[in-house]
Amino acid sequence: MGRRAAWIELLALSLLAASAAAALCPAKKGLKGRSCKPCADPLCSDCQANYRQCRLCTAELWDPSNPISYYVAAATGKCTRCDTSPPTKNCDVAAGCFPNGRCRKCARGYGMVNGMCKPCGVAAGGKGCQNCDGNTAVCKQCVNIEKDDSVAFITGRNSAFTLIGSKCVQCTASDCAACPGNAAVCRRCLPGTTLSGGRCIGCAAGCGYGGGGACSASGKCTKCDSYFGLVAGVCKDCEDPNDLCAACDGNTKRCTRCIPGMGVALSGGACVKCLAPNCLSCATPGSPCSKGGCAPGYGLVGGRCTKCANKGCVKCEGNASRCTACQLELDDSLNFYFLDPATQTCAAFRADIS
Ligand SMILES: *[C@@H]1O[C@H](CO)[C@@H](O)[C@H](O)[C@H]1NC(C)=O
Repeated sequence: MGRRAAWIELLALSLLAASAAAALCPAKKGLKGRSCKPCADPLCSDCQANYRQCRLCTAELWDPSNPISYYVAAATGKCTRCDTSPPTKNCDVAAGCFPNGRCRKCARGYGMVNGMCKPCGVAAGGKGCQNCDGNTAVCKQCVNIEKDDSVAFITGRNSAFTLIGSKCVQCTASDCAACPGNAAVCRRCLPGTTLSGGRCIGCAAGCGYGGGGACSASGKCTKCDSYFGLVAGVCKDCEDPNDLCAACDGNTKRCTRCIPGMGVALSGGACVKCLAPNCLSCATPGSPCSKGGCAPGYGLVGGRCTKCANKGCVKCEGNASRCTACQLELDDSLNFYFLDPATQTCAAFRADIS
């Protein structure tokens, strides 16, 4: 708690020192008439001129791997978390923003120029360019089709980009995962397809849907996608009425692996419900719930899935009173929750949907 408070204080003070020419009120206080009152918004670090008007929000940097930044929302004047609605257009939401509202990092297809995120230009490959920081005409890094499944939607074609000079050029072949240095020659194909003469051809049914399957250069299945079994060189649907069977090689009526996290375990060639209550993962139907295998909102305590004590808590392995992950999705009362690592409890926030 001390470390956290000290960090926030330090940050707020340095920001104040940098911004306020003549300090009227102490840090985190602002004028109400002629007196200094604490800023109306507890997340505000500068409300000098008017205690109700925040100019700058606190940033929580005590966890360097997960900085929580806020900005002043124009509509409400309140400190709002950066990653729910970015202050400056085209920020990389996951990277958050600086306390002044500027992006830490730009979104895909934008480059940081004079502190603003500008679209990468045609000369850099436009939407095919991941990062053109410094100069929107020069791409530094192309989008990675294997990490970004919106590429096809944006470019109209499902294939990777290669950096040629300062421009990202899309591989000529469809379903190509890499064509380093030469857009016309594909070197690696996306899942579900196979490399054949510099192009990518589709695998046969059952190994061609990107579900972990693979096929030979002729397109014949060598490994099936989930829910299929390889029988005499062909991938066939596993015959499980509940669709919980992940693999059934050799015999479609005999399951060899169940879909993980569905509360079932393999028993005599079938996927049978875990008997332990609120359990999503068990070694055999009758065994205790596996470590980390309890349903959201439950933690394994003394071998049983026990309801997490804290409201908004989704993960509390080992001790129901110690939360390690909170519910980020809105609940019925439009609340979402953030973990306070100091107390290992979830703090409720009301969604600002203005
Ligand atoms: C569970 O966590 C709470 C809160 O941190 C603590 O007071 C309690 O001692 C813990 N229980 C066990 C068995 O560790």
